[in-house]
Amino acid sequence: MDSVGTLEPFATPTVRLDKLFDVPDIQVFAKLDSLQLSGSTKERTAASLLDAFISSGRLAPGGTVIESTSGNLGISLSRQCIVRGIRFIAVVDENANGSALQIMRAYGAEVDLVLNPADGNKLAARRQRVQDLLAQHPGAVTTNQYGSPDNPAAHYSSTMPEIMKALDGNLDFLFVATSTTGTLLGCQNYVREHRLSTQLVAVDALGSVLFDGESALRRLPGLGAGVVPELSLQAKPDHVLRIKEIDMVRGCRRLAYREGILAGASTGAIVAAMDQMLPEIPAGSRIAFLVHDSGVPYLHTVYDNDWVKENLGEVPENSGAQ
Ligand SMILES: Cc1ncc(COP(=O)(O)O)c(C=O)c1O
Repeated sequence: MDSVGTLEPFATPTVRLDKLFDVPDIQVFAKLDSLQLSGSTKERTAASLLDAFISSGRLAPGGTVIESTSGNLGISLSRQCIVRGIRFIAVVDENANGSALQIMRAYGAEVDLVLNPADGNKLAARRQRVQDLLAQHPGAVTTNQYGSPDNPAAHYSSTMPEIMKALDGNLDFLFVATSTTGTLLGCQNYVREHRLSTQLVAVDALGSVLFDGESALRRLPGLGAGVVPELSLQAKPDHVLRIKEIDMVRGCRRLAYREGILAGASTGAIVAAMDQMLPEIPAGSRIAFLVHDSGVPYLHTVYDNDWVKENLGEVPENSGAQ
């Protein structure tokens, strides 16, 4: 029975991509976390957050979890709460993918939609709503993905060791998209504690306030923040790149056309960031990135020319059928 797995997060494959960029001297690897059962890297985060609560006795079957989420953590928590017999209330905003909300509901979650606040700060409005709901549901807990050390711990103990194992400990640059910065921070803690020479590249959205960024309108979910998350104060990446949404679209489509990987907006941002940084990356380097989620929930945004034209003002070249 050794090959029978569990329904918990599993080690995802790391694959070599040789068509994404025309750089024969640089090896590019992708870790396919989009293959997790709930479709994203947040599968790991959700399991770690819940298990920490359960093992400390603050949460048990029949209990309630309330969390603010732009989509993926909500999907992962929905799935893992239902299998653990826990009620889950997801606080979401209007940036959330409609299909993400349907998936959460399919896993039995209750979805609480916060309408666009007058000051435009959706994240702050969601966090306030979580506090209001906690007051209304005595005994309920919030997993606090923005500040909990159990968020980066998931990536310290699984994501990064898996990458290093797949690459025989030999990696020069790792590109990670950032929102709570939990994924980045877990990888950073691993790199620093093991004294690796791997440089960490944080890929953020233009308009996100992470890393002293300036707040502006963002339409695509998955990366970026409107309020500085507590965890991000510890994040010290070697490089930070801020990507425009139209370049996220270009990155997603490039990954789909060249490598046959359908990924979400934050992974498209990483492809755009790698493209920008390649001229500075020495020949012979090995670079890796996370495919944070699948492109399926983005079929009506990133992969829809009408949506892209209407919301981002242009349609990238080479974006029709091949
Ligand atoms: C689509 C997507 N992008 C980016 C990230 C990184 O987010 P965070 O900084 O919150 O770890 C995740 C994490 O799961 C994700 O699902």
